[in-house]
Amino acid sequence: MSNKQTFYITTPIYYPSGNMHIGHTYTTVAADTMTRFKRLTGYDAYFLTGTDEHGQKIEEKAAEAGVTPKAFVDEIVAETKKLWDLMNIRYDDFIRTTDERHERIVQKIFRQFYEQGDIYKSEYEGMYCTPCESFWTPSQLAEKNGEKVCPDCGRPCKPMKEEGYFFRMSKYQDWLIDYIETHPDFIQPAARANEMLNNFLRPGLQDLCVSRTSFKWGVPVDFDEKHVVYVWIDALSNYITALGYGTEDDGLLKKYWPANVHLVGKEIIRFHTIYWPIMLHALGLELPKQVFGHGWLLFGGDKMAKSKGNVQYPQPIVARYGADALRYYLMREMPFGSDGNYTNEAFLTRMNADLANDLGNLVSRTVAMIEKYFGGDVPAWTDAVDPSVDTPLQEHCAALPSLVEAQMDKLQYSQALAEIWKVIGECNKYIDLTQPWVLGKDPEKKDRLANVLLTLAECVRYVAVLIYPFMPTTPERIFAQLGVKDEVLKTWDSLKTFGQLPAGTKVQKGEALFPRIDVKKELEALYLAEEKPAQPEKKADKKPEKKEEKKAEKKHEEPEFPEVIDFGDFCKVKMQVARVLECVKVPKSSKLLQFRLSFGKDGERTILSGIAKYYEPETLVGKQVVAVTNLAPRKIAGIESQGMILSAVDDQDNLRLMSVGEGVEDGAIIG
Ligand code: ME8
Ligand code: MG
Repeated sequence: MSNKQTFYITTPIYYPSGNMHIGHTYTTVAADTMTRFKRLTGYDAYFLTGTDEHGQKIEEKAAEAGVTPKAFVDEIVAETKKLWDLMNIRYDDFIRTTDERHERIVQKIFRQFYEQGDIYKSEYEGMYCTPCESFWTPSQLAEKNGEKVCPDCGRPCKPMKEEGYFFRMSKYQDWLIDYIETHPDFIQPAARANEMLNNFLRPGLQDLCVSRTSFKWGVPVDFDEKHVVYVWIDALSNYITALGYGTEDDGLLKKYWPANVHLVGKEIIRFHTIYWPIMLHALGLELPKQVFGHGWLLFGGDKMAKSKGNVQYPQPIVARYGADALRYYLMREMPFGSDGNYTNEAFLTRMNADLANDLGNLVSRTVAMIEKYFGGDVPAWTDAVDPSVDTPLQEHCAALPSLVEAQMDKLQYSQALAEIWKVIGECNKYIDLTQPWVLGKDPEKKDRLANVLLTLAECVRYVAVLIYPFMPTTPERIFAQLGVKDEVLKTWDSLKTFGQLPAGTKVQKGEALFPRIDVKKELEALYLAEEKPAQPEKKADKKPEKKEEKKAEKKHEEPEFPEVIDFGDFCKVKMQVARVLECVKVPKSSKLLQFRLSFGKDGERTILSGIAKYYEPETLVGKQVVAVTNLAPRKIAGIESQGMILSAVDDQDNLRLMSVGEGVEDGAIIG
């Protein structure tokens, strides 16, 4: 038996209603990184992920595709596992809610709740959001354009009435309030705890409808087969059914429960910090030590979501730059807990700056100089020290493991990487300060040069060990160049004292770790790569958009008009004057600008136009343009365009926006 401390980490189990995108990849990479970090630092870590396969949404998707729900999800699950492989995700278990081991125990849990009086049978009338699989009471609903919509996703809800089983959530409310108040680490970031307390718990919990009769694709309630178990009761249970809860074979549960952390996106914190704790408490189980609700990756300012279709997939990026670069970017770009926009441009820019320049140059310069001045043999330490420059760097580097660990303990991945990159930056400055190429010219300075290069090589070794959880394949490439073969020198323990890299280690120059790229060219190449999606499902939903975009861009080159049209046809086109409120470039596109337009009393709209080559977006803000406003909305590059802005070609073959004279009101009709 090992006496290592255990660490159990989970991701949400994702809906296989479409292929996983960068958003799901984000959480999964975070969980994998933490697992690797915990193992590196001596923990016995267990990492669970999986898929949440039941529910009406999946049933509907499968029906649309003309296959059974199981066949539908099987294909997406296979793709999902391939994607996690591609991203170097090493989970210990992948649970599917259609696994027999899971369904059986969900039935048992449900029965236990019923038998002990936590669940009772009654009737339900309310509004239902199918995409979120959530019931809402009238007071919880939000309103948009006079319509009652889901407060989570903003989409319309349907009225529903059914006989159902209800969970007495109210019974546990005071206990849960007290638990959250006395366990400040339970909900992170801390602001989320107040949100749960103030918005849901203190106003009073409603009993929750935990069964459905309106569809079949779920775990049947085994004592009342008309009902299937509510997907969230089904889904949340995965965190314990995967460990063998409720079976003879529950060694994993004994060993790893309670979980150290459930990683979730912020939109599902509520389920994990209200329903799930109550379920566990009712089962007599301990609560997870922490639920961390991270922020969203946004795409064009909106949450990237399968159901919205505005998604970015990892495959084309990994195909060009490797999984490590994408993993690094995802963990570095935004603080865990905050939202951030995903753009290929930001990714490529960071890859150049942090990976090609900072890290890549440090490694290649260090190795090249040891080759040049010491024939490739790492020299031994000498007494030619310069404490004013050596000591600060050596001490900083020696302290780095604990600086990184302190950030990782708070799940501050981005800060942990920032700590590592501070040392990388300091190394590059140290090279400028010590000027090894000057020392190299003077044979009497050889001893000094030895210490300089050894300091750098040892820092590189520290960095290689520490980036491993984030970028699991890069360290081996660095160790190969540095000549580190001894596995001991790749461990956390080997970072206890600075200066372990032995003299005589043979360095060997290799390929650049991350070649410097031309951001502009790569943006184009990525854009084209994304037109040939790697996934079958993507083909179906992406191709039409791209065609639309091509059409939009070509429109002015090849006008094809009938010779005459009816006056009636002309009258059908509604054109209005609009003022530009915002104008930005569409991330993946070199041609498209995204406008937010005001039509005065007729409100605002988003319209895309293929004029990015002809205008700087900032210069258009405040200007008036003319737009067709009764065109059917269509998706271009994943963004819904609600009309068309009129333009004409000038004598230089540039597109020029149409405008109107002074004094015309925003929203004025043209005709
Ligand atoms: O909610 N940014 O599944 P789901 C960041 N089945 N993270 C994102 C993201 C984005 N744009 N999009 C998705 C479900 N995610 C339920 C969970 S758990 C018992 C049941 C990540 O397919 C993030 O972790 O909608 C988010 O919470 C999760 O995927 C939602 O995946
Ligand atoms: Mg979701």
